[in-house]
Amino acid sequence: MRVLAVASQKGGSGKTTLSGHIAVQAQLHGEGPVAIMDMDPQGSLADWWNEREASLPVFAQTSVSRLNNDLEQLRSQGVKLVVIDTPPAITVAIQSVIAVAELIVVPTRPSPHDLRAAGATVDLVERAGKPLVFVLNAATPRAKITFEAAIALSQHGTVAPVTIHHRTDFASSMIDGRTVMELDPKGKSAGEIRELWSYLADRLEKNFRRTVFAARPNVGQPVQAARPVAATFGRRINAAEGA
Ligand SMILES: Nc1ncnc2c1ncn2[C@@H]1O[C@H](COP(=O)(O)OP(=O)(O)O)[C@@H](O)[C@H]1O
Ligand SMILES: [Mg+2]
Repeated sequence: MRVLAVASQKGGSGKTTLSGHIAVQAQLHGEGPVAIMDMDPQGSLADWWNEREASLPVFAQTSVSRLNNDLEQLRSQGVKLVVIDTPPAITVAIQSVIAVAELIVVPTRPSPHDLRAAGATVDLVERAGKPLVFVLNAATPRAKITFEAAIALSQHGTVAPVTIHHRTDFASSMIDGRTVMELDPKGKSAGEIRELWSYLADRLEKNFRRTVFAARPNVGQPVQAARPVAATFGRRINAAEGA
């Protein structure tokens, strides 16, 4: 099971948008079951998921104190990827998420405010010794500042070779719990998310191989048989509906 976190100290950079899109794309591409977690108290990703008709990816409600146990449970249920959305602040929650994540995706708008805020996220991730990938998000096509932002960010870490452009379908698709791929699978936005996931999947796999060869002598042994994702992580959240 791979664990990917989406983090940035800047609000509005695209954390929730990319968390949902990455999770759905991985699921669509056959790399599921995928689970999402929302560690932002604002709960935007949870709200989006509650609007969804499709049951996958599954939503796993968690908290800082339960994070490790819940990840273990997802792993034992056969979940292959967990995508975690985070708050735009340096909190205990974000530090715990970074501690369990194998890769941190940092969405950054090509704007001076986002670029200035990037340092705080980089420090946080670097202190935890985790790999980070910047993803330029909401870029204006052919704008010079996108190119300049990529250069500026590359001084601090890896920049994904895929830029997500500013398009209204990224916002409109999420209103009713969908993604751009589900709105228009042949559209430009869907194409960008496909490319982004393909790049991230590759990065995760490379990191994983490095970790496995370094730390797990029993690789190659049969793993615990995967059970289907159980009702524990089913559709809920609304306390009135019951757990
Ligand atoms: N590529 C994009 N194109 C158009 N709108 C976007 C794009 N990415 C994000 N947005 C919009 O920007 C706003 C902030 O995005 P969001 O994902 O909620 O950021 P964060 O979670 O980092 O605060 C939302 O209204 C979202 O719909
Ligand atoms: Mg958010």
